[in-house]
Amino acid sequence: MKSRKGRPRAPARAPRDAPVLNIIGKKVALGPIRKDLLGLYQRWINDFEVTRTLDLPMRPFPLEYEEAWYQRVIQSDRDLTFTIYDRKTLRPIGNAGLHQIDYQNRTADFGMAIGEKDFWGRGYGTESTGLILDYGFKTLGLHNIMLQVFSSNSAAIRAYEKAGFRRMGERREGHRANGEIWNILFMDCLFSDRELAADGQHSQSRRG
Ligand SMILES: CC(C)(COP(=O)(O)OP(=O)(O)OC[C@H]1O[C@@H](n2cnc3c(N)ncnc32)[C@H](O)[C@@H]1OP(=O)(O)O)[C@@H](O)C(=O)NCCC(=O)NCCS
Repeated sequence: MKSRKGRPRAPARAPRDAPVLNIIGKKVALGPIRKDLLGLYQRWINDFEVTRTLDLPMRPFPLEYEEAWYQRVIQSDRDLTFTIYDRKTLRPIGNAGLHQIDYQNRTADFGMAIGEKDFWGRGYGTESTGLILDYGFKTLGLHNIMLQVFSSNSAAIRAYEKAGFRRMGERREGHRANGEIWNILFMDCLFSDRELAADGQHSQSRRG
């Protein structure tokens, strides 16, 4: 490409401290998990409002727990976890990824948490889910991606359905927390489900 004066324009370069990104969407960008963000990840998993709807014990997690998780995940081909960034500001806002990846059966489990609560309800969860499904199906060649979600987590269920997941069953009264008992909903997604959902989202955004 040429500049107005006819000289070739230098390629746009990311600032030196910009995070490494793998996947860029409209609202979110996804990059590797980072050692320098372990303190932030630790803050998220110690926030009971965030973990209330996660399959995690509601207990204090010391930094060493997060460090051990990080060491385990970076060495595993079966667990691929991303940092979710707000695309505009590049502020890290959560984690999402594929777990228990089985390359022979081409299956995996999906998990996600947006730790920065001011980003809830703004479409970031739906888009992150879609981007990771696309990565799983198109890049890794997976065939079926599943997840578990508590039946009370309406926002997550809605985000997952919009991205292409379908309900496949429910374990009744399988989770207890905060004096409440919830069912565990199982959802899964094939590439064809994802394509249908993505087509629907595109035509909706074209309509306005
Ligand atoms: C659950 C979570 C991932 C959802 O992400 P999000 O960015 O907040 O969700 P989105 O904004 O993309 O979309 C949520 C959808 O649910 C709807 N929604 C939000 N809150 C809702 C509620 N309390 N009840 C019903 N629907 C709700 C939204 O309106 C939106 O649907 P719409 O686009 O048709 O309006 C996020 O809130 C989160 O990380 N929570 C804490 C951890 C967690 O629960 N992780 C998932 C574990 S399975």
